[in-house]
Amino acid sequence: MSAVEKPMQDESRHDESWFAARASRGVQGLRAYDPGHDLVAFRRKFGEGLVELGSNENPYGPSPAARMAMLDQLHSLHRYPDPLGLDLKRALAAKHGVDVAQILLGNGSHELLMQLGQVFAGEGDEVVFSRYGFAVFALATQCAGARARVVDALPRTHATMPLGHDLDAIAAAITAATKLVYVANPNNPTGTWFGREALVAFLARIPADVIVVFDEAYAEMADAPDYASALPLLARHSNLVVTRTFSKAYGLAGLRVGYLLGAPGLVAVMERVRESFNVNGPALAACEAVLDDAVHLKWSLERNAAERAWLGEALQQRRLRAFPSQTNFLLVEFGPDTSLVEAALIAQGVILRPMGGYGLADCLRITVGTRDENQRLLDALDRVLA
Ligand SMILES: Cc1ncc(COP(=O)(O)O)c(C=O)c1O
Repeated sequence: MSAVEKPMQDESRHDESWFAARASRGVQGLRAYDPGHDLVAFRRKFGEGLVELGSNENPYGPSPAARMAMLDQLHSLHRYPDPLGLDLKRALAAKHGVDVAQILLGNGSHELLMQLGQVFAGEGDEVVFSRYGFAVFALATQCAGARARVVDALPRTHATMPLGHDLDAIAAAITAATKLVYVANPNNPTGTWFGREALVAFLARIPADVIVVFDEAYAEMADAPDYASALPLLARHSNLVVTRTFSKAYGLAGLRVGYLLGAPGLVAVMERVRESFNVNGPALAACEAVLDDAVHLKWSLERNAAERAWLGEALQQRRLRAFPSQTNFLLVEFGPDTSLVEAALIAQGVILRPMGGYGLADCLRITVGTRDENQRLLDALDRVLA
């Protein structure tokens, strides 16, 4: 063995814990985001027979205009995209009635939620969010090295919004150390939501120096009269941030585009950590195109709402409790045999999302699919429950 080879061999023995010990304090305690089952392997195994209802994707896909817009981009793949994504930002600014300077684009809203933690929280700081709040809130907090204050959700027995965010308790949990509050409306994985009155009362209780992030990934799907987006309140509260995504209602999960709306000053500070060219050219073009196709969006949202109601009823007929949802998924109680039920469904090629990581091991989260997918799920479920 030569003297040159030896140190190489020593280095190759360093395992994850060796590197973790050298990571920043936050990353040392961090666990990677759990994306659910290995769908690529399942696709290989089940082919067309696979029913994918685990990732809250939009089964109807994007407006056909998205594909045309992307094709048009293929001749310039050797060029960097517009670093600022200005055309898309202009379209979003017009849609939401805000200034272009109030918008930041992300490679998915996941990226933006993480960066909010990175920018506004650090060691010694606290970040407040609800139990059963979207998983990325905890990851962003941990990654930033901040302390999570996890507030109990409304109880399962709650008359109208079981497992929903307890906004009073969240406001009460804020201390002098709190830098950031995350709330999701509607929330994943519970599907729960809140309305304008609750929103206004909540914001009135938040100190002006605490940044409140409203994750509205499913906002377009919410059609309940008691649901309200925080967007109209942006003008009144400069400590308010709203995140949205093209992954859900617009059916572009594969392209990874999300955006944030907030005060121009907040966006300018967030810009400092944004990676260069973080949204690619075909994705920018596709997003502009889908914003222009209101007819497809409306059709897709109506289908989702109808299937959500139909599936919810079908589950209820099978004496399974589905929590109220304003999204494209249902959180469903399966009781003590949940993992057995899940395994038996997987054996039939039906993939749902287990909820043990959220502390809801007796539940599975079911994405609302097309009628055909929902029917295949129910058929498989009937075989399992029999
Ligand atoms: C509540 C919520 N927020 C944010 C996201 C992240 O979405 P994306 O990164 O695709 O924009 C998701 C994805 O499932 C979500 O459920």
